[in-house]
This record gives sequence, C-alpha cells and structure tokens, in this order.
Amino acid sequence: MTVMDEPQRWQDSAEAWDRWADRMAGPADRINRPLLDALGLHPGQVLLDLASGVGEPVLQAADRIGPSGLCIATDLVPAMLTGLQRRAMLSLPAGGLLPCVAADMLALPFADSVFDRISCRFGIMFVPDIAAVGFEIARILRPDGFAVFAVWGDPAANDLFRLIRTGIDSVLPRAPIDPLQVLFRFAEPGALSRQFQAAGMFCTEQVLTQSATTRVDRPFWRATLEMAFAPQVKRLHEGERVAIDQAIQRLAAAKAASQSASGFDEPQLLTLTSQVRLITARRSPPV
Ligand SMILES: C[S@@+](CC[C@H](N)C(=O)[O-])C[C@H]1O[C@@H](n2cnc3c(N)ncnc32)[C@H](O)[C@@H]1O
Repeated sequence: MTVMDEPQRWQDSAEAWDRWADRMAGPADRINRPLLDALGLHPGQVLLDLASGVGEPVLQAADRIGPSGLCIATDLVPAMLTGLQRRAMLSLPAGGLLPCVAADMLALPFADSVFDRISCRFGIMFVPDIAAVGFEIARILRPDGFAVFAVWGDPAANDLFRLIRTGIDSVLPRAPIDPLQVLFRFAEPGALSRQFQAAGMFCTEQVLTQSATTRVDRPFWRATLEMAFAPQVKRLHEGERVAIDQAIQRLAAAKAASQSASGFDEPQLLTLTSQVRLITARRSPPV
C-alpha cells in the first residue's frame, strides 16, 4: 500500500472538517449511536477517544458518561482538535470538561490500566502499525475494559465514496495515490481483528448497513468531497472544481433514474447505502 503523509493530510483537512462539522452532525449520529451502544457506556466511566478529529463520536460519548465520569479526546494533529474544542464549548453543559490531548495512538501518554472504554471512529486505518496500537490499547485498558473501532466496510456498499471517486476520475488524471485505498483498508471481514488478535486481543465484529435518501438536485456530496478529499480539493482550479461537481451531479441523476426505473424511488430522489464495520477488541475473552 502506498502511504500518504498523514500529519500533512490532516493539517490540510482541518479547516474543511471544522467548517462542515455542525451540518454533518445528523449523518454522523447514525453511526455514533451504534458505536456508543456497542461500547455500553454509562455515567461514571472513563473513556479515551482516539483520532477524535472535530468531535465524532466523543462529544456524544461525553454526554452519555456525564460529569461523574471522564472522557478524553486525542488526535495526532492539533489543528483537528481546534474544531472539537469549539464544538465542545457550545455543546457540553456548563462546567462540562473534555480534555483534548494531541497524541499519536502509537504512543499514548497515559498510565497502564486506566480506561474502561476506548472509542475510535474512522481513525485506525491511517495508522501504519496496527499491532503496535493493539499493544498500546491493551496496556491502557482496565483488565475488563474494551475498545470499539469503526471502519468503512465493503467499498461496493459505500455508494457516496464511489460516486465522488468516479466523478473526480472523469475530470482529472488518476491520482498517484488512490485516496480511497486507505479508507477501505479494513473493509474485508476480519482484516482488523486479525491484526489485533496478533497483539493478544480478543475481537468480535458487527456490520452496520444503512441507507439514506436525498434529493438528487441538491449538492449532497459536497461535505464528503471537501472533507475526505480535502488535500486534493484544495489544489483544484475553480474550473476543475465546477467540472467535478457537474460530473457527480450527472452520475447521481443517472443513478436516481435507474433506481426510479426499477420502481425503487421517485426520479428526484436518490438512495445511497453505506456499510461500516464495528470491531470490538477486549483484553480478556468475552464471558
Ligand atoms: C477521518 S478522521 C476521523 C475523525 C473523527 N473520529 C470522525 O469520525 O469524524 C481521521 C482522524 O485520524 C487522525 N489520525 C490519523 N493518524 C493518527 C494517529 N496515528 N494517531 C491519532 N490520530 C490519528 C487524523 O488527524 C484525523 O483527525
């Protein structure tokens, strides 16, 4: 796999993630809820969130755990945490505390056996050495603690990324590094679990398949285009950017027409599926 410069990628992405964060809170919630349910959170627990970005799912986790517990947000890139701090000020109740720590999940600045739970949404795929993360989370979890990681599932079941990628490819020459390659690094069943198991963890997996319907004449793809492809989008000329929007719009309209022809939806509506895998990694075998 070709490797990107991750700190630079997220430094270049931080502005777009902060700009879209509040408008994307609704779609984010559809993934956060099952992720937080899988963590079995309750008031008073101590949770560490890895690769927190601009606050999904740690803001909601802090709400579930409440002031009697403690949530700590971490990210490799301080610029991503700036948006999270802004959102925490607005969303947490007065006196709510959400410490934000710039930290690489390969070397976490925390003592042994202190966390009840660890969450990580769409962050683990950007880390080169997964076994090292496995050893690190096993070190900081309490003996009965566990972690839940959300990763993207089968690329064929994630319509929006495919639509955007096809739109970009129809306008620009293929990028030397496919930006989707890393996103779908753990799409295969068992791909992440096997690496954590090699680090001595006990893993289970769950698949979430969801669908959402949108109006096809609205630019529903823009947030994902500007966030997931931020470094590429930043380098585009205005004409290229317009051409990519038009290409995605055409692809979306064609897909909506084909769904409508098969009686699935009205022609102005488009239904997109997404698939996410939740991987639970425990220090001890589940009872
Ligand atoms: C796709 S964003 C996910 C952010 C957030 N959890 C969400 O779901 O919206 C990926 C995040 O992983 C962070 N990241 C990448 N490599 C990391 C590492 N080695 N340790 C900690 N965070 C990392 C990036 O800085 C970025 O904020």
